[in-house]
Amino acid sequence: MHTALIAAPSYDPIFNKIIDDLVKQEWSIVPRFFPSALVTALHNELLDHAEHDGLNAAHIGKGEQRTLRSDIRGDETRWLNGESQPQRDYLDLMETLRQRINGELFLGLNELEAHFALYAPGTGYNKHFDSFQNNNLRRITVVSYLNEDWQNEDGGELLLFNSEDEVFERVLPKAGTLVCFVSEAIPHEVAITQRQRASIAGWFRVRDTSDTPPLIIP
Ligand code: OGA
Ligand code: MN
Repeated sequence: MHTALIAAPSYDPIFNKIIDDLVKQEWSIVPRFFPSALVTALHNELLDHAEHDGLNAAHIGKGEQRTLRSDIRGDETRWLNGESQPQRDYLDLMETLRQRINGELFLGLNELEAHFALYAPGTGYNKHFDSFQNNNLRRITVVSYLNEDWQNEDGGELLLFNSEDEVFERVLPKAGTLVCFVSEAIPHEVAITQRQRASIAGWFRVRDTSDTPPLIIP
């Protein structure tokens, strides 16, 4: 996979649609966002890590609250760090999206943190928010799916909830689909999957300035 492909101007209308959707409804779903060769390479890399003990059971909560609860959240994860070409291609494309969102929406997004996630059959992730006001630096969630030939009966849908607690969107985790939403606005859930389910969950964050010393004006 060559990065020139993903910086192509053909992405412009897609970025525009994502930004429009985020402004109008706080979420966006783009089927076939990623080239299929890139999806396959990322999927193979994830399966290779799974086979060689390269994944970690996912935790919930932060700090002292951090615990392992596979009944609530059943994925195994690995942070992306740009160690492979497929990861760098993914990160480059997300970087372009980050810059476009900042340029249009002035969200001041500083960086992306992203991990591979693999859900075994019979697992999911109970309804949650990715961010709470004043408690998290995650602003925009981006989830990318890596599963070829996903069928309705395979389950594992991403469910998006409205403020009345009703599901308004069910997204099958099909290869190449990108879902974006405002992290503190959209409660969501991963329905129990019947098949091994592969994805990359990412968050555009603002930088933590809590240890920055206060500006002292004499
Ligand atoms: C998450 C999450 C959704 C998905 O990792 O926080 O909500 O569809 N993932 O994998
Ligand atoms: Mn989430």
